[in-house]
Amino acid sequence: MTDRTDGGIYSGAAPAEIAVDLLELVNFQEQGLPMEALTGLVQERLVPHLVKYDLPEFHSLYNFLPEKGALLGGAVALRYNQGVTNWQVSPGGVMLEEMCAQALCQLFGFPPESDATFMYCGTYANQQALYMALHRHAQKQGFDLAQEGIQGFQDPERLAIVVSQDAHFSLKHGARILGLGERTLVSVPVNAERCLDLGALQAMLPGLREERDIFCVVSTAGTTSTGSIDPILPLIEICSELGAWLHVDAAYGFPFSLLPELEDRFAGIEQADSVTWDPHKQFGVPIPSSLLFAKHGVEFERMAIYGEYFNRRDDTEPNPGLKSPPSTRPLTALPLVTTLRYLGLEKVRERLRSPLRAVRALSERLRNEPDIEVCHTPHTGILCLRLTPEGFPVEELDALQLFVYERIKQEARRSISMTRLGDKAVLRLVALSPSVTEGSMLETIDHARALAKEFKTDAR
Ligand SMILES: Cc1ncc(COP(=O)(O)O)c(C=O)c1O
Repeated sequence: MTDRTDGGIYSGAAPAEIAVDLLELVNFQEQGLPMEALTGLVQERLVPHLVKYDLPEFHSLYNFLPEKGALLGGAVALRYNQGVTNWQVSPGGVMLEEMCAQALCQLFGFPPESDATFMYCGTYANQQALYMALHRHAQKQGFDLAQEGIQGFQDPERLAIVVSQDAHFSLKHGARILGLGERTLVSVPVNAERCLDLGALQAMLPGLREERDIFCVVSTAGTTSTGSIDPILPLIEICSELGAWLHVDAAYGFPFSLLPELEDRFAGIEQADSVTWDPHKQFGVPIPSSLLFAKHGVEFERMAIYGEYFNRRDDTEPNPGLKSPPSTRPLTALPLVTTLRYLGLEKVRERLRSPLRAVRALSERLRNEPDIEVCHTPHTGILCLRLTPEGFPVEELDALQLFVYERIKQEARRSISMTRLGDKAVLRLVALSPSVTEGSMLETIDHARALAKEFKTDAR
């Protein structure tokens, strides 16, 4: 239940003050504490320092409290089989994970031969997609990447992954972990809507094809900074011409494809080779909850490693652990299933629409206000803007956004984020929980305006 007694999103304490409170908790002793005393300790020392994600003033990042339906699934998983791992330790968990993956493929409109695997986070799902893409590329060149590694390529320096300038940094992690290095990522500029600029890509392609071997193209459906949805269908065509793998990083955006009014933006997503989705971002399920979908389920065979005590080749039962690396797998499917069943798809859609409406209304209102620069047309539930008070020196605008961001963070009564779009520092508002409304975000912006006035007096 929401606790607003102090009106803040958390205690507002500084790191050193929190450390003093937490010291007693990490003071490990020979003797245990009675449960009542332990509960009191956690409540008193830790809980005040935890952010209340369900407050209307929390609009900074992808955090969400678990929904009622998710709590049921989470509690059952903890009470019985929190780990799926394999059939031996959780036959029901294994079957639920496999059947949930299939049902989700159907819900999102993937072809019958598609499949999905549960992952610990979107970062790992993206990483696995890049590996699968590279593995297929190696296979086309006649060798097994799993055995030979990147040395199998005649000239690994030619390998290239095309991404947009606004793609998530997890793709850099992916390129690093594959041993390819970040130089493998070829960045395409974004257009005014902060989507991968198709014209720019078309212009780059002839030269790029001469110099590099593009084995994968990544489209981001819901970029982290602005929530923009890159084109998908045209990239499918480009990939089929190149013989490259199309991965869609829809870690944040995928569920919006369930809204008929946004279908067009997602056109073609079910034809992508792979898609990342993080239900833990806005579905009110416990972390971790991430999935990697593959249009052809057989592509997951690229991941399989068999063992003697475990993941045995001659096992006859289904084994989700052959599709992605974690051997110890949480029963993530259960809270997702109980959430979807508790809410029903109609309510899920309504829940998804609420932040979209709030952000769109806010953006339209602010466009007419001279002291705000709205930085993009919002496709989803994120809006980036800049405070631009009349007569304020342009060269100090970045410092102003940072000043306001820091002040809001220190006050701990609201939560916003900041990022850079091109060469500009911007404030970023994310609407996730239905409690975040146009009004609550507007209050934050009005407060930011008031703080901006202090910059003039304090900091200059
Ligand atoms: C577009 C996108 N992809 C990938 C990720 C990484 O997801 P995770 O935090 O689950 O690793 C994020 C996280 O914000 C994201 O916005």
